[in-house]
Amino acid sequence: MSAWSPDSWRSKPIQQAPSFPDQGALADVERQLAGFPPLVFAGEARKLKRALAKVAAGEAFLLQGGDCAESFAEHSADNIRDFFRVFLQMAVVLTFGAALPVVKVGRIAGQFAKPRTNPTEMYNGVELPIYRGDIINDSAFDLKARTPDPDRQLQAYRQSAATLNLIRAFAWGGYANLENAHRWMLGFVKDSPQSGRYQELADRITETLGFMRAIGLNPEEHQELSRTDFYTSHEALLLGYEQAMTRTDSTSGDPYATSGHMIWIGDRTRQADHAHIEYCRGVKNPIGLKCGPSLKPDDMLRLIDILNPANEPGRLTLIARFGSDKVGDHLPALIRAVEREGHKVVWSCDPMHGNTISANGFKTRPFERIMSEIRSFFAIHQAEGTYAGGVHLEMTGKNVTECTGGARAISEGELSDRYHTFCDPRLNAEQAIEVAFLIAELLKTERARVAPKTEAAE
Ligand code: PEP
Ligand code: CO
Repeated sequence: MSAWSPDSWRSKPIQQAPSFPDQGALADVERQLAGFPPLVFAGEARKLKRALAKVAAGEAFLLQGGDCAESFAEHSADNIRDFFRVFLQMAVVLTFGAALPVVKVGRIAGQFAKPRTNPTEMYNGVELPIYRGDIINDSAFDLKARTPDPDRQLQAYRQSAATLNLIRAFAWGGYANLENAHRWMLGFVKDSPQSGRYQELADRITETLGFMRAIGLNPEEHQELSRTDFYTSHEALLLGYEQAMTRTDSTSGDPYATSGHMIWIGDRTRQADHAHIEYCRGVKNPIGLKCGPSLKPDDMLRLIDILNPANEPGRLTLIARFGSDKVGDHLPALIRAVEREGHKVVWSCDPMHGNTISANGFKTRPFERIMSEIRSFFAIHQAEGTYAGGVHLEMTGKNVTECTGGARAISEGELSDRYHTFCDPRLNAEQAIEVAFLIAELLKTERARVAPKTEAAE
């Protein structure tokens, strides 16, 4: 394989690349970005890799989720806080339900660029470039808005920095203290069918913390109780931006993407000899690879060899996104190929991207299909004797109506009430918590199966 450098992707064929009309302006922005501070540190990415290695070994669970696409318009402290607290609630449901550490990774603080099915879009006889995410162009339907503008990368960088700053404060500054578990309940979730279950769990946590205090273990001295590790992730789609944010770590001398802790390769850009695989193979971060119905086992094995030649556990997360009706046809062969070759990977389930349908003029996802793909994912791993290690969700802390169904049975007719997404339909906070309760149940069963058996005392 030829030598890697942060720009070696430039000599490869590339999918989903926007055409910037002013290449000089683009180069200027990339130069500026290359001089900016990193958003994350290599040491943090390594810590996440170690946490994911635990997932690969069946000793932890990966919860990854957030917006399909972050937007400039929705950048606010309230949105970040609401997302963070529903994410904490889900993590608590999973940790307590399954007695398992949860590795928390947001699709946040950098999730701006979107792969699209068509390069252009037609409306009232006018054809314009497609919207590719706020880091590239604007979603408004006029030529100026849709023309890729490099300055948007500077805004995306600054928004990511501000978002991450608030998240770090929430995660480390006391908000994530388990003693606050009751207070994380969002206003509109309070009267939902999920709230009773969650309150019960929060009561149990309070009781446990009371017991722990009584025996001298308190959150003031035990940071595990008052802080949480929260990591960022996004699709590494806009490679000029990624290259500009690549830094050599001074401790190890290795290159890292410092745009986020974990980056992933989308289902449309995972051709082995193309640019996105080339960039990702060289940085040492944890990497995700989306696996959709067109991925053949041999192609997957080739990608694993390129992306994780040393078979380092925690380096590679395979994110299965087949659709509830297809997962049974595709996933078993991929799992068997991975097992046959002895690859150490995390298997995660994205139950969103294979279950998108159109209804009433809206892109939506029926909640039952999302649940059904998750159930199948666990059942298939059970049948293969492997570990269902994680879930990858598109979700928000807001009370949106984008996915139909769930405990409140959002109907197709109600989608227009609060449909706010800039790209794909997301689970609202209530639906996200409902999913967490389902996974906690599935994990309990899985844990009973894979937990190491302790020998009876002699
Ligand atoms: C996404 O995660 O938003 C996405 C576009 O996914 P995929 O590459 O799996 O289609
Ligand atoms: Co999406």
